Amino acid sequence: MANYVTMKKVACMFGGPHLSEDIINLQEQGLIPAPERFLSGALFKKGWPVSELPKIGEKIGYFKKFKESVAISVFTTKGGVLKSTLALNLARTAALHGLKTCVVGLDIQGDVTTALGFDNQLGNDDSLEEIVSKLNSIKGLSDYFNNRYRLHEVIEETDIPNLFLIPETPELAALNDSLSNINRREYWLRDRVVSQLKEHFDLVVMDCSPNWNKLTTNALVACDILLSPLECKINNFRNLNVFKHFLNQFKQDMDIDFETIFTPTKFNPNRRLGVDICNWYRDNVKGCTENSVRESIVCEEATALNKSVIEHAAGKPQANEMISLMTEIHGRIESYLEEVKSCAPYTQKTGSEFKHLFDREVRP
Ligand SMILES: Nc1ncnc2c1ncn2[C@@H]1O[C@H](COP(=O)(O)OP(=O)(O)O)[C@@H](O)[C@H]1O
Ligand SMILES: [Mg+2]
Repeated sequence: MANYVTMKKVACMFGGPHLSEDIINLQEQGLIPAPERFLSGALFKKGWPVSELPKIGEKIGYFKKFKESVAISVFTTKGGVLKSTLALNLARTAALHGLKTCVVGLDIQGDVTTALGFDNQLGNDDSLEEIVSKLNSIKGLSDYFNNRYRLHEVIEETDIPNLFLIPETPELAALNDSLSNINRREYWLRDRVVSQLKEHFDLVVMDCSPNWNKLTTNALVACDILLSPLECKINNFRNLNVFKHFLNQFKQDMDIDFETIFTPTKFNPNRRLGVDICNWYRDNVKGCTENSVRESIVCEEATALNKSVIEHAAGKPQANEMISLMTEIHGRIESYLEEVKSCAPYTQKTGSEFKHLFDREVRP
């Protein structure tokens, strides 16, 4: 059954309860789809299926389309610090606002692929044989690298019509090795994948492993912006200088530059050390966001349910904090484009090879 969202929740997801009035106005003018009746417990309510939300988000939301396509890599050299959670929240937020978004899973452990619910296509009642055959049918970047498929054939649909995923497959480890053996080994992802994706998508989000490997260095070369979580814990705090040193060295060696947005994560306002570390990051780390992601069960639940916090906990403080963070990140991306790129107007993405992705029926 489709997942429906009530008017109140939709308003909260896109900025606050005050937006209900705007939604009613748009609906009366026929500018957004009419809500549908759905059964919630024993009651009938009115709302929209998730697949319709981008049509509303692009009219009333805070995450507007950028005038150019942007590629963002999410990376730091530590695991469990909310890289995949940030990638998921950023990608779903953008897609819910109507941006054509593609997530590229580059973590050999497959975090973001699981987080986008891709594994749910495996039924509990499937036999082992059925599951193995479904798993084997999942194509990934290594199939494209080996010329078994074209790029658009390894892009998978999700529950949001304009959100797509290149899933992580076990062969990513082999791809990592293969990349070591080619010329211009750091540029494959940029030249063969991301530059093509940018012709068709407004936003490309790459979710990386927590270590330096060929997939990571490829993702850094391919990105315009690095989004890097700073866990508000002592270990991450101690690692930061080494990480920044490696980043700078890498930029120098490759003769490239990208903007870095650091974001404090797993912030616990009740722990003195956590508060001190978070404040230190804000005061001392260039490019650190004002907003942070606090340690919270609600956020964990959201990731477990393959949703952004904004969808899962619309109206709750954790969701509002995520909205503030996403608004800040959006602003940072816009100023990056303003400073670095030319001022061309927004161009509608019309690449024909990928057109079928956007003209299809939504997966139930
Ligand atoms: N705000 C949060 N507070 C605490 N745990 C969280 C929060 N958001 C997500 N989590 C959980 O933390 C774990 C690690 O997050 P993840 O994004 O996978 O980290 P990484 O990609 O850096 O390894 C996941 O199980 C996730 O569900
Ligand atoms: Mg991860």
